[in-house]
Amino acid sequence: MDTRETWASRLGFILAAVGSAVGLGNVWRFPYVTAANGGAVFLVVYLIAAVAIGLPAMLAEFAVGRRARRNVIDAFDEIGYPTWGVIGLLGLATGFWILSYYSVVGGWVIRYVFASATGGYFGDPNAYFQGIAAGPAAVGFHALFLGLTVGIVALGVEDGIELATKVMVPAILVVLVGLAVWGVTLSGAGDGLSYFLSPDIDVFANDYATIVPAAVGQAFFSLSLGMGVMITYASYLGRDDDLAVDGGLIVVLNSAVGILAGLVAFPLLFSQNVEPGSAGAGAIFVSLATAFASLPAGRLVGVVFFGVVLVAALSSAISLLEVVVSYAVDRYAVGRLRTAVAVGVLVFALGLPSATSLETLTLFDRVASNVWLPLGATLVVAFVGWVYGQAAVDELQQGAGRLGGLGPAWLWLVRVVVLATLVGILLLGVADILAVYADIELLG
Ligand code: PHE
Repeated sequence: MDTRETWASRLGFILAAVGSAVGLGNVWRFPYVTAANGGAVFLVVYLIAAVAIGLPAMLAEFAVGRRARRNVIDAFDEIGYPTWGVIGLLGLATGFWILSYYSVVGGWVIRYVFASATGGYFGDPNAYFQGIAAGPAAVGFHALFLGLTVGIVALGVEDGIELATKVMVPAILVVLVGLAVWGVTLSGAGDGLSYFLSPDIDVFANDYATIVPAAVGQAFFSLSLGMGVMITYASYLGRDDDLAVDGGLIVVLNSAVGILAGLVAFPLLFSQNVEPGSAGAGAIFVSLATAFASLPAGRLVGVVFFGVVLVAALSSAISLLEVVVSYAVDRYAVGRLRTAVAVGVLVFALGLPSATSLETLTLFDRVASNVWLPLGATLVVAFVGWVYGQAAVDELQQGAGRLGGLGPAWLWLVRVVVLATLVGILLLGVADILAVYADIELLG
């Protein structure tokens, strides 16, 4: 398949991968899940998980993708292990699942871009959020966000994905740094900072069985791991990149954006006397809206902020869609445009429950990060560690500089530590979902 597309440059690949990683997971999900899991303790576990578990798992996906140069399902066939293609199948299903509610949240963001310009939420930010989060308007904006995603993916790897992300990554860093610097000067900000930055070990001792799976799940969600995005993106690579360095850069940049979002969200919540755990999935929308309402140039700041978040969300959403489209284009030689539109319609339908109920959306989100992504990652890691083994090390060593010598250490890390952790948190994650489900049953 000589006509397969490739990235125009190494930077293009890194930015696209960062573009996939950095998104609503950092700006919307990270603050709200941090608040639900005790604050700073969660941050610590999350960072450890990103570096010690996420990065090695990312390299496992890179090795398969670059070696095979195929979509998530055929990749396993190409390297000689067709049955492991079920990983790809699970990846496609997870992509549908996540995109369905991700696009609802993306729709909220579009709505907030407009509402910032008009000052629509300035009067009562909380009531405004409750009013737009679910219902007919949410359905409409969900459709709009999906339409944009489909449009970019239809344009293809180089013109669409690569271009969109080159602008987004620098922009989001600049805007978040600006907001964080301003946020910490507010009165009450200090409490927010200590909530976010100074861990309380008792919190961990009491709740580690929910904190740890939530943190590892957040690391995988945020790094776009466990559903084949990184297999797909690495499949468009040339042979001579240093994948370990690329992976390290992606993890650092992604963590930086998450921390910055926390530095913005928590001082703001505390300066408004909002109890962080109570804010739920609307945390970032309500807290920032309240802040923008009180700022001199609030409308402008709001438009810029939500505009940047929108681009970040789009560059993640296109990676979710690209996994599915890439498969259909490789396998059935159908056009990008037609495939993207068809998938878009299905995702729209699957998103309707989330667009009409905030509880459903939160449940979909929790199942994605606690079950689907850890399950996918467990399978990839088991395959790469124990089945593909040395061949994966060889692939990573292609183009690797001095870090290449760490190959065998990486392999054992993947085989033992990463795999055992993933299996453990998968079990805890399933238990957590069953407990939530039992609660719902009891209440209903
Ligand atoms: N990493 C993206 C974010 O943080 C979400 C995502 C998850 C994208 C899984 C692709 C795959 O917003």
